[in-house]
Amino acid sequence: MCMATKKLIVGNWKMNPASIAEARKLMVAIQRSAKKYTKVTAVVCPTAFHAGDLVSRVKKPLALGVQNIYWEQDGAHTGEISAYQVAHEKIDYAIVGHSERRAAGETDEEVNKKVHALLNVKVTPIICIGEEERDSDGAYLAHIAEQIKGALTGVRQKDLKNIVIAYEPLWAIGEKATGVVTGEEMHQMLIFIRKILTDTYTPRTAQNVRVLYGGSVHADNAEEIMVGGKVDGFLIGRSSRDPKELAEIMSIAHKA
Ligand code: PGA
Repeated sequence: MCMATKKLIVGNWKMNPASIAEARKLMVAIQRSAKKYTKVTAVVCPTAFHAGDLVSRVKKPLALGVQNIYWEQDGAHTGEISAYQVAHEKIDYAIVGHSERRAAGETDEEVNKKVHALLNVKVTPIICIGEEERDSDGAYLAHIAEQIKGALTGVRQKDLKNIVIAYEPLWAIGEKATGVVTGEEMHQMLIFIRKILTDTYTPRTAQNVRVLYGGSVHADNAEEIMVGGKVDGFLIGRSSRDPKELAEIMSIAHKA
């Protein structure tokens, strides 16, 4: 775990819920837990469309994020939302490089441009990395190293405290997940991620990067992954749309 005292719990709502009214209701419910669990920083990432509505309603300590951004500040980029626009609305976080976006073609180079665009406007990038499958000769580790280095190319040491890395193995994400990491596996991965960071940055800087786990986090496995894996928080899909379950996960993080 890094020096940050608070655990970071990020909800990725993906393309849900169906209406702004439902998004407001969900946010209000999560807001109650965010207030209660003071050792947790809770963030929800609705669609950008819904975030535009929620931004005028969100109450501290709950924070908002978006699920993607584009690196140019403005101009002819149909369908995109700039980091600049996100910052302008005082939205604090943005997920980049989620595996569902990488599957749609997002490259490490694009992730890197997004990271720089976000750092420039002081929005915290949550950089997703993760392997498709684990092989016995460790090729997946090379893939993780490549994703980390690709995302952080040109990122200065002093900016590293403003980024978050979310390790999300693809085989553990969503309805089709074939498993979840154990606390021990997560801890090994955490050590590996920090080791890769020390190729470029000082050990102290590497130690202070917040590392989250994501992929089928539920109330019944959160403690094992958080305590055994020594992670700084979670990036949560499905369970983040169930306020009761999310509250349980936040309570676990609060006590961990
Ligand atoms: P899940 O999704 O928690 O529903 O597995 C995680 C994610 O894709 O960020």
